[in-house]
Amino acid sequence: MYIAILIIGFLIAAAVSMLVLVKRGTTTRGALSRETKSRDASLVSSAGTEIESVETTAARARGDETRQQAGELVPRDAGTIAEWTPMDAEELSVSRRMFFNRAILMVGGLAVLPPFGLSLLAFLWPSGAGGFGSKVVVKLSDAQATWANKLPYYVPSARTYLQPYPSEALVAAKKAYSADVFVGMENGVVGLYQKCVHLGCRVPWCAAAQWFECPCHGSKYDRVGEKRDGPAPRGLDHWPVVVTGDEVSIDTSGTAIPGPPIGTDTTKQAAEGPHCV
Ligand code: FES
Repeated sequence: MYIAILIIGFLIAAAVSMLVLVKRGTTTRGALSRETKSRDASLVSSAGTEIESVETTAARARGDETRQQAGELVPRDAGTIAEWTPMDAEELSVSRRMFFNRAILMVGGLAVLPPFGLSLLAFLWPSGAGGFGSKVVVKLSDAQATWANKLPYYVPSARTYLQPYPSEALVAAKKAYSADVFVGMENGVVGLYQKCVHLGCRVPWCAAAQWFECPCHGSKYDRVGEKRDGPAPRGLDHWPVVVTGDEVSIDTSGTAIPGPPIGTDTTKQAAEGPHCV
């Protein structure tokens, strides 16, 4: 989640930087054109001429006024329309450069941002193809083959151990477990979340004792995840498990179901050898 927020922030920062660059391009001033320089020079050098011209204009205005009062038609603001002059080559080249700079930025942005954004969306979008956080389906026959060797069937994509549940313990289990867990037990399967309920270490299987034994602080859980020893406050958490034919569906889309309280011992399984921890 934090990575997604960082990437989105980076995208926004990139977009803002691009806008700032484009904006700066619009306000950039080139060097003064030759025409401007010569106009400025002529203004300075011909100050006297300018005063003269102002006086001439005032005299012309007075004459126009007199003629208007006499009933003559006088053209309004005659002679004040500025004459059009084309841009010189220097000014033109600055404008071209600005145009190409902006075009390159726009094309570059359009080429890079959409594919990057789409890749990001594809990365963040739930795939629906299974994995932790969704339903994971495995074959019951594969699990049974593993159980025959006295090993739990580990499903990495669900971070779950599948274990057989003995039918003779169902009466006790019905009192100790919720309906969501009991459904799987009735079909002979429990789905145990690999995370230790003490402080979250992954709990490995101890083949010698036939228990799960946590290497972090020594919590121990029997074959079906009920707590036997150590600082853990309860048994291992469960995921709902549904058996259909040869398929076992492990539903990790919600929150794990809290393990049974300390003292729960539905299978009466003692350690079958030396402990690993
Ligand atoms: S994390 Fe497993 S015993 Fe502490």
